[in-house]
Amino acid sequence: MLVNINSHGFMQSSPTELPQWQALEEWRRSFASRTIASLFKVDAGRAQRWSFSAATIHVDVSRNWIDENTFGALVALARACDVEKMRDALLGGEAINTTEHRSAWHTALRTPPSDPSVARSLDEEQRVFLGFAEALRAGRIQGSTGAPIETVVCIGIGGSDLGPRLVTEALGASTGPVAVRFVSNIDPVELDSALEGARPEATLIVAISKTFTTLETLENLRVARSWLHSHSQALDVAHHVAAVTAHPGRAAELGVHPKRIFVFPEWVGGRYSLWSACGLPIAVAHGHEAFLQLRAGAAEMDAHFAQAPLETNLPVILGLLGVWYVNFWNTRTRAIFPYAQRLRNLPLYLQQLEMESLGKRVDVDGRPLAVDTGPVLWGEVGTTAQHSVFQFMHQGTHWSPADFVLVAQHADSDERRYRVLHASALAQADAMAWGDSVLGPERSTAAYALTPGGRPSNIISLPRLDARAMGALLALYEHRTFVQSVIWNVNAFDQWGVEVGKKLLQQRLGREAF
Ligand code: F6P
Repeated sequence: MLVNINSHGFMQSSPTELPQWQALEEWRRSFASRTIASLFKVDAGRAQRWSFSAATIHVDVSRNWIDENTFGALVALARACDVEKMRDALLGGEAINTTEHRSAWHTALRTPPSDPSVARSLDEEQRVFLGFAEALRAGRIQGSTGAPIETVVCIGIGGSDLGPRLVTEALGASTGPVAVRFVSNIDPVELDSALEGARPEATLIVAISKTFTTLETLENLRVARSWLHSHSQALDVAHHVAAVTAHPGRAAELGVHPKRIFVFPEWVGGRYSLWSACGLPIAVAHGHEAFLQLRAGAAEMDAHFAQAPLETNLPVILGLLGVWYVNFWNTRTRAIFPYAQRLRNLPLYLQQLEMESLGKRVDVDGRPLAVDTGPVLWGEVGTTAQHSVFQFMHQGTHWSPADFVLVAQHADSDERRYRVLHASALAQADAMAWGDSVLGPERSTAAYALTPGGRPSNIISLPRLDARAMGALLALYEHRTFVQSVIWNVNAFDQWGVEVGKKLLQQRLGREAF
């Protein structure tokens, strides 16, 4: 067996060499003659046995290719790969992002760390940006002509856009007087439409960029500034620009007033940054209390991840199922179907979270991997997805496990359409698992109509679509991603592949004298 001490100082074999891995290959073969329906038949309590709850989130994994033996082997694999120790290292702020020589301590933004000086400085950063958000909502922040700010245009990309945009939209209509709009693309159409109808004298441009070097963001900021200027020569543009960054010096060099620069630590990764001052748009749209609730929900999930035994630990269970399908069932994708219109951006957010974190080809010590890593993540909001991609889900020659994300109770739960929405998700999950065998007399015997089933899914339910549940949901996905990275022994917190494209773009633009 190849046993190494990896760069985190933990025992790490090539996972394929572990006896637990080989046991899982055996268990995989044992499913060849079975169906998901048969797993339910032999166990009347299956739905209950394979349902778990934590931090308000309920997860039903009963429609998966698992039984006690497989699950036991998956948990044993997690132990053999030091998931518990790595989890503690993550939550303890150890420098587990080895290629960038820093911690990935986004959880410290949600649960104050024990180091009093770190806790104090995080507290101060939070006080400043949440205070600014409340002042905006109260009309106390004015443009240079004295008009209260009524539109905030947030410019950022990747993690500096997807998380804040997702949560702002998920929580519904703004509860304050300020409209929040988002721009990420360098395609002029997006900034043009965000600025359309906005009154320059009542508009604040917020550039969100951890590095403050991202070309798209700086270019859109430049254009937004000239829009401010060209609409009214009388405006003092500096009054209408703010920045959120881990590099305040760079924002100041580009002319942002130091009092309008909101900072966060370098050890917060871009795709984990919505919990920091990057969450400013959320607080502007929904108030600081909603932002604190969001963090509180995430902190509850962090506590569950830290303390629950692996056997009932939601991020661990979901992460292990992720490994199970990629490495033992050879699936190349995973689908995300949120059944809530306000979560339509969830697949996009998760694409960055999981594909930047797990799209890796070498292990933490730079050795080529012997196993496949992160799948392609894709998805669409339900029920819209049912009329586009579900044909593939039910009858394609290859299949994709799926997450159905449901909201148990909507603000207007008597509304008939919510009942249809909810039942639709479960009907799709059932059809994936059991196929048409359960249709009874309505079943067609034609070959073209045959729907075989045996396609696994998770049902992830939020009690309500509120800030606390959103925080718990996003932390669940963060930790699930981390668990997979530990099994595969990859660094979940760097993204060197993205850099190549950035550098080549710079070279091309240089040649064209941009
Ligand atoms: O796409 C790569 C990336 O580095 C992401 O990880 C990050 O979220 C995004 O670019 C934006 O970076 P920044 O916040 O520094 O502008």
